[in-house]
Amino acid sequence: MTTTDLPLLVLGTGADPDSERGVECPGGLPASSDPDLVERARKAKEALGDQLFVLGHHYQRNEVIAFADVTGDSFKLAKEAAARPEAPYIVFCGVHFMAESADILTADDQQVILPDLAAGCSMADMARLQQVEDAWDVLTDAGVADVTVPVTYMNSSADIKAFCGRNGGAVCTSSNAERALSWAFEQGTKVLFLPDQHLGRNTAVQMGLGLDDCVVFDPHRPGGGLTSEQLADATMILWRGHCSVHGRFAAESVDDIRARVPGVQVLVHPECKHEVVTKADLVGSTEFIIQTVEAAPAGSAWAIGTELNLVQRLAQDHPDKSISFLDKTVCFCSTMNRIDLPHFVWALENLVDGNVVNRIQVDPETERWAKLALQRMLDLPGESHKD
Ligand code: 13P
Ligand code: SF4
Repeated sequence: MTTTDLPLLVLGTGADPDSERGVECPGGLPASSDPDLVERARKAKEALGDQLFVLGHHYQRNEVIAFADVTGDSFKLAKEAAARPEAPYIVFCGVHFMAESADILTADDQQVILPDLAAGCSMADMARLQQVEDAWDVLTDAGVADVTVPVTYMNSSADIKAFCGRNGGAVCTSSNAERALSWAFEQGTKVLFLPDQHLGRNTAVQMGLGLDDCVVFDPHRPGGGLTSEQLADATMILWRGHCSVHGRFAAESVDDIRARVPGVQVLVHPECKHEVVTKADLVGSTEFIIQTVEAAPAGSAWAIGTELNLVQRLAQDHPDKSISFLDKTVCFCSTMNRIDLPHFVWALENLVDGNVVNRIQVDPETERWAKLALQRMLDLPGESHKD
């Protein structure tokens, strides 16, 4: 089986970003049927020259990735944006929290643009500031807040990152979660891990903690659905959030592909459920997945559990290897797919005309604390040596 054999579903992410963020495109979007879209994108990019820097997350569509000056995971892209102080316009082809992180890490006179404001992330939307502040009150009442360090995954809004910064915590990504947690356990005895319970649990177990050291805090239940004793006994307090795409990979799919493809190696993102990660051969971020496939010998067989745009591109780029998508019932991240060529062309042509559309701008107070939490991540041992 290859990715091209798969019936494709468009997976809803559970969020309703249109209702929460303006999605109008003043001046009108070019039609997706416009045969000149590629040429229009090329011309607008050429006209903007060094004024423009285009970042593309690995989950973006091919039509958009074709115009990216650099591709990467969310962490690499934020650092790439920060390393381009000469570009006044950063067009971020990814989702909202990534564009926010780029805005936080770039200079004040640089403008970060998200071609479609409806490109959110359902996981990031699962932790709202008020909910997290209420949870912190629950931890305070249980007498554990002062020994708890909040750590948030990059996939969270700027105000959640700021909450972590204000409360002695940090940001982490899927590539440095273990180092971030080791740092956190030097600052306190417990971690409140936001918003992805799966990355939190998978990392905790990888570090030698047991599943019973983890509890799940449900923001929709009084007291998080936990007693003060449970909070006192837990080492990891996991927020009840998940990725609507990665959460759908099933453990049975790993058994299934092993039965069908002899010698296959299963490679998954740590946003997958613990039972999937336990059955996989290798686990890591999007950058790790790409590097692993690139380094693999010709003829090797891989089943990959991450977003479909990336898996399809890996299959196209490595025809000498057998690359399968791990689970037929999982599909594209619908919010990542919001960034398409019409939105890209619309954003660039507006820039050519002197109009900055869809600017993502974090307010100064939020930025100050979120930057502190991001800086604690950048200061983790070994981080400065990575790209
Ligand atoms: P990476 O940081 O590994 O690129 O993951 C981002 C993401 O959204 C995964 O779902
Ligand atoms: Fe968010 Fe999941 Fe999409 Fe990543 S794949 S942007 S975590 S919904």
